[in-house]
Amino acid sequence: MDIKFVAAGAAVPAKAAVARIVFEGDTHEGPLAQAVAASRFTGAKGQTLDILAPQGLDAARLVLVGAGKRDAFTTLGAEQAAAAAYNAVKTSGLTTLRVELSGATDHSVHAAFGLRLASYRFDKYRTKEAAEKKPSVTHAEIVAADPDAALGAFAPLSALADGITFTRDLVSEPANVLYPAEFARRVKALETLGLEVEILGEPEMMKLGMGSLLGVGQGSVRESQLAVIKWYGADDKSAQPVAFVGKGVCFDTGGISIKPAENMEDMKWDMGGAGAVAGLMHALAGRKAKVNAIGILGLVENMPDGNAYRPGDVLTSMSGQTIEVVNTDAEGRLVLADALWYCQDRFKPKFMVDLATLTGAIIIALGNDYAGCFSNNDELSANLLAASAAEDEGLWRLPLPTAYEKQIDSMIADMKNTGGRPGGSITAALFLQRYVNGVPWAHLDIASTAWKKPSSVGTIPDGATGYGVRLLNRMVQDRYEG
Ligand code: BES
Ligand code: MN
Ligand code: ZN
Repeated sequence: MDIKFVAAGAAVPAKAAVARIVFEGDTHEGPLAQAVAASRFTGAKGQTLDILAPQGLDAARLVLVGAGKRDAFTTLGAEQAAAAAYNAVKTSGLTTLRVELSGATDHSVHAAFGLRLASYRFDKYRTKEAAEKKPSVTHAEIVAADPDAALGAFAPLSALADGITFTRDLVSEPANVLYPAEFARRVKALETLGLEVEILGEPEMMKLGMGSLLGVGQGSVRESQLAVIKWYGADDKSAQPVAFVGKGVCFDTGGISIKPAENMEDMKWDMGGAGAVAGLMHALAGRKAKVNAIGILGLVENMPDGNAYRPGDVLTSMSGQTIEVVNTDAEGRLVLADALWYCQDRFKPKFMVDLATLTGAIIIALGNDYAGCFSNNDELSANLLAASAAEDEGLWRLPLPTAYEKQIDSMIADMKNTGGRPGGSITAALFLQRYVNGVPWAHLDIASTAWKKPSSVGTIPDGATGYGVRLLNRMVQDRYEG
């Protein structure tokens, strides 16, 4: 999507739709008033009214987009209104969308951001799509009081949209294309943005003693990888970094504890945590964030095989703690155990936030609009929840009760890798907590939010959401930069 900011009076190009963002109680004039009167359009949030060949207007179509109460209009409202406008005309055959909104530059800038998010599409494997089904709108013009100021203010949000797009592309890729080494290559390519990227293969991880992560990957013909992404953007390059760790299971069959066939294809998305961390690092570098940040991705494939790890196996993690594997499908925590330990051991970060599509139980607990937050630190948790509210990426804190620790006691090792069905997301988080060595930490279980099908949010097309990139970018920006 090619986006420009234009002054209110600028000539409308050929083959354009004009979307006018209006509020409840607004009055309309002339033929427009007639069209509104003949419909149920009130200006309520989410409503659109499509008017073909509007009289007295230089546009092929006019779309009125309801934005609710004028006083309650926010930057998030501007994003959603612009997304609704795009979704109303995207396959109309018209090529340009002009978005008209009055008021603050902020609103114009966020309308542009909303268009970037709404127009995302993963279509590289469609070779036979009929022309009339493809989106036709490729250009947008957003009215702004001061177009130059708007363009300047859009730069960091455009970088954020680039990061979210990167995440969505990674998460959408099938596992035959995006296996650990390919994921690592795509992350390595981010060095052009100024990031430093190190890739560790199996021999390096073996030397570090990462028996937990390596155990998961040993049944796959694809080599496991650990990606270490570094962004030193703070004025003081030696300042303590913030750190993000992602579960990157490029495909999760369940291993020997194999999953049922139905919906197993969804498990290409089991690298959504690593995808979000990669997208976040992309965004931080893209907007030259004044922070030192580390991103660590544990990249593996969980397969059943003659060489696969078995239920009953005991793994020794980098921390030295031993783990009895009782279910090879509880693999994400095994990957994160070594990635988290390595992160705190090497980088001594201010805090670690891990993102993982860790448990089906979080979907049962919270549904698809909230991820679960688990933390050993109230300040970090409060910062995450504040960022969640600001960016409208749902997050809900859940407890880490000591009394549940016994669910992961093992007869023969330091712990087992699952605690059974009761509180399944909680015992998974308690397991991870044993690998953070007391560092301020939060775990976001995003199994509920990494993808939506179908999606009901205009800025999130069906499929990979990019959840977490906005939230963490905002938290870094508001609390850890400068
Ligand atoms: N990747 C899954 C979690 C998951 C399930 C994500 C469904 C999205 C949708 C994870 O590796 C897993 O298999 N977890 C098990 C844990 C159990 C064996 C203790 C689960 O949730 O069933
Ligand atoms: Mn699993
Ligand atoms: Zn998994």
